[in-house]
Amino acid sequence: MRNIDATTTTPAFLQRLDDCGNPRLKQVLSSLVTHLHDFAREVKLTEAEWMQGIQFLTATGQMCNDTRQEFILLSDTLGLSMLVVALNQAKPPGATEATVFGPFHVDDAPAAEQGADIAGGAPGTSLFVTARVLDLQGRPIAAAEVDVWQADDEGLYDVQRPELGRTRRARGVLHTDTDGRVRFRSIMPTPYPVPTDGPVGQMLLASGRHPWRPAHLHFMIRAEGFETLITHIFRDPDPYLDSDVVFGVRSSLIGNFVAHDAGTTPDGAKMATPFYTLDQDFVLAPKA
Ligand code: BEZ
Ligand code: FE
Repeated sequence: MRNIDATTTTPAFLQRLDDCGNPRLKQVLSSLVTHLHDFAREVKLTEAEWMQGIQFLTATGQMCNDTRQEFILLSDTLGLSMLVVALNQAKPPGATEATVFGPFHVDDAPAAEQGADIAGGAPGTSLFVTARVLDLQGRPIAAAEVDVWQADDEGLYDVQRPELGRTRRARGVLHTDTDGRVRFRSIMPTPYPVPTDGPVGQMLLASGRHPWRPAHLHFMIRAEGFETLITHIFRDPDPYLDSDVVFGVRSSLIGNFVAHDAGTTPDGAKMATPFYTLDQDFVLAPKA
């Protein structure tokens, strides 16, 4: 096809896919490029804007390294990550809802015993968590793996602190007992901004958007015969519950954090400063 103009570009591209032997790739590429062309036509994209877009994506790629994934952050802040979660992680009624994974999970988090303090010295107000893992019938799931991670009081994950090297803190992997329970001590989560020192930060600023996530604990829960659950527990009140920069908040994921005066903690110790408790049930969906 020759003499392509603003209207014939799209059918010309689609024709080039005639010999594509992978039907799913053909479907995804056809739709993606059709929408991309429609977008350019709709906004009458200028050449300067096209170049700015190319430079933005180039800078996004250049920002990526082993510990920084600017493209995922871009997807998160554009709402695409949460949309993909919503499309793929719809749960049956009664099961705990999923939300974004985020970039701060590590595969080598330390194993933690029941009742352990997983904060590992991270600064923050003490929090005592009891979590129960249940099936849809409310029966406890024993030996489920509960992987938890969170930012510290200054809004930073351990992996964002070069001074910690490979020391892990404010994260741990526990296993439920026969009652489906894990107990651990950590610190209260606080709101924090996603990294803003790259192109995504510039995009947020230029769009008049703030970079904050409401306070949360991350959980990934795995058990034999059940769908893996990747989720957060948020706290209320929080100034960012309705404007999470990555669109991850679900009302059902707001936990019951209870403030306590200094005194006896759930593990029977004496605490000289106020602390919080969180009692949280997670309900897993059976594997399809
Ligand atoms: C997080 O909650 O850790 C997170 C999620 C998406 C982007 C940045 C951080
Ligand atoms: Fe987080």
